[in-house]
Amino acid sequence: MCSVINIALNNNLILTVVIQANNSERKQLRQQLRKARQSLSTEQQQDASIKLLNNIVANNIVDNAQICAFYLANDGELNPKPLIEYCWSKGVKTSLPVIHPFAKGHLLFLQYSANSKMCSNQYGIDEPVCELPDIVPLTQHQLIFTPLVGFDLNGNRLGMGGGYYDRTLSSLKQQANISLIGLAHDCQQVDALPQENWDIPVNKIITPSRIINC
Ligand SMILES: Nc1ncnc2c1ncn2[C@@H]1O[C@H](COP(=O)(O)OP(=O)(O)OP(=O)(O)O)[C@@H](O)[C@H]1O
Ligand SMILES: [Mg+2]
Repeated sequence: MCSVINIALNNNLILTVVIQANNSERKQLRQQLRKARQSLSTEQQQDASIKLLNNIVANNIVDNAQICAFYLANDGELNPKPLIEYCWSKGVKTSLPVIHPFAKGHLLFLQYSANSKMCSNQYGIDEPVCELPDIVPLTQHQLIFTPLVGFDLNGNRLGMGGGYYDRTLSSLKQQANISLIGLAHDCQQVDALPQENWDIPVNKIITPSRIINC
């Protein structure tokens, strides 16, 4: 954060210092929190994933949705695959984000089922092959589950640093009928995340042990 010494500088410089302080704090937090989740064992990951499913089922989070957006776990992220399969078993449709082929830095959501043809994207993450009929407009979702690197109890999220979710979700600011839900391991909580004006907060955070309404 900004130190007292910076107050003596002119306005532009103070602003620069604040942004740099935020950036380096976010970078450091990202490294620590990614390390924490990467260090979870395969058993701990599987356990967390099943506890997440049980938590969501017990609280009827997905039952009234027609279509929910998910992600495929990468880098130690909390794995929503059992939850995706639960959705399929209940007739709730699911989608996955793919890197937008035209809008740089944005995501596009494609319908995802057990039969989806998959390919690997530039980050080595599996995503559905982009076919026009499979595109699900953002506004057709009732629930959008996002991965996150860190969160605080106010719903502020820290992602992997690409700004993909922030850019894509910025158009939803006024859509009260769509719920943004961050999924994370409990070890990804921090007291307060430094935020920037482009960051899009979530409405709820769900961990293997808790549901936090923000
Ligand atoms: N709506 C936006 N318009 C333009 N640039 C943006 C927008 N949102 C984020 N960015 C840019 O993206 C970069 C990364 O943003 P940030 O550090 O918040 O990513 P993140 O929240 O960790 O990633 P993600 O959103 O993919 O989870 C920033 O440099 C920021 O300038
Ligand atoms: Mg952000």
